Amino acid sequence: MTQELVIDSLRDLTDRIREFTLRTADDAPLPPHSAGAHLTFDLGTLGTRSYSLVDWAGDAPETCRIAVQREAEGDGGSMRMHELTVGDTLSVTGPKNDFPLADHAGPALLLAGGIGITPILSMATALTAANRPFALHYATRSRGVMAYEVELAAAFGAAVTFHHDDVAPLNLDHLFAHVDPATHLYVCGPKPMIEAARAAATTAGLPDAHIHFELFTAAQHEAGDTAFEVEIASTGEVFVIPPDKTIVEVLEAGGMDLIYDCQRGDCGICQTTVISGIPDHRDVVLSEAEKAEGKLMQICVSRAKSPRLVLDL
Ligand code: FES
Repeated sequence: MTQELVIDSLRDLTDRIREFTLRTADDAPLPPHSAGAHLTFDLGTLGTRSYSLVDWAGDAPETCRIAVQREAEGDGGSMRMHELTVGDTLSVTGPKNDFPLADHAGPALLLAGGIGITPILSMATALTAANRPFALHYATRSRGVMAYEVELAAAFGAAVTFHHDDVAPLNLDHLFAHVDPATHLYVCGPKPMIEAARAAATTAGLPDAHIHFELFTAAQHEAGDTAFEVEIASTGEVFVIPPDKTIVEVLEAGGMDLIYDCQRGDCGICQTTVISGIPDHRDVVLSEAEKAEGKLMQICVSRAKSPRLVLDL
C-alpha cells in the first residue's frame, strides 16, 4: 500500500540520528503493523530507502516513528532524509515486515548494534505488552552515539543492558555462554555483528530456525571493487557489472524480470545458482560452508572474484 505521509515532528536523538514522527496527510489512522516492520520511502532520483518503525502500536495508530542515521559517506538517502522539514510530504509504501517476532514459548534475546535499535525497540515493546520474557542488549561505539537510552531504561528496566565499545564492549561469548537453547535470537546491526552473533548462537546450540536477523545497511560498494561480467545461462546474454552497480541493478536495467526484496543481502529472495565463476559473497544469508562452496549467491549485493559469472537465470 502506498500513501502520502506528512512529517509531524522531528527530534534529534544524537548528533547523527534524527527521529521522524509521521502521520497521514488527511489525519486518517495509519495501517496496523507488527513489531519489526518497516516503511519504504520514495526518494525520487535516489530511489527508495526502507526504515524500521520504532513503535509497535497495534491497530490503527495515529502516528508512527522512524529514526534515520545520517551517513555522510553513504549513498545519499540518509542525507536527503535529514534535509526534510516538518510539514514535508513523502510517498511511503508499507508497512511491511521481513523481521517479525516468531511465535515461540522460549525467551527472546534481542541484540541491537547502532541504529539497528529501531526494530529491536518495537520488538521489546511488543514482547512487554504480551508479557513474554526477553533480554535486550544494545551495543554502540560509545554512549554519545546511543539513541533512546533514556526511553529504553525507563520502559524495560533490568531487561536492557547497554554496551559501549570504548568502555565495556559487547562480549558475545559471554552473552551466549549460558543461553537457553529454547531462546530465539533477534539481531539487527551491521554485517560483522550479525555474522558474529549467528556464529555464537550456533555454537551455543540454537537451531537456525531460532536465529532471526536484519541488516540495517543497503548494499555497500567497497573500495577496490572492479567490473565483472555476468552471463545469463538461459539466453547467453552477457552483462557488464560496473563497480558502482549491483547485479540486480544492471540486469533489471537490461530488461530482466528479477525477484528480489531487501537489496541488503539478508532476506535470501534473490538467491541464484552459480553455474560457473567465483562469487564474492557480501550477504548474511549463506553459511560459511555455503559461501565456500560457491554454488549459490545473493545477486542484490554479492559480486565476483572471477572475470565472469554464469548464473542460472
Ligand atoms: S534481495 Fe534480499 S538478499 Fe537479495
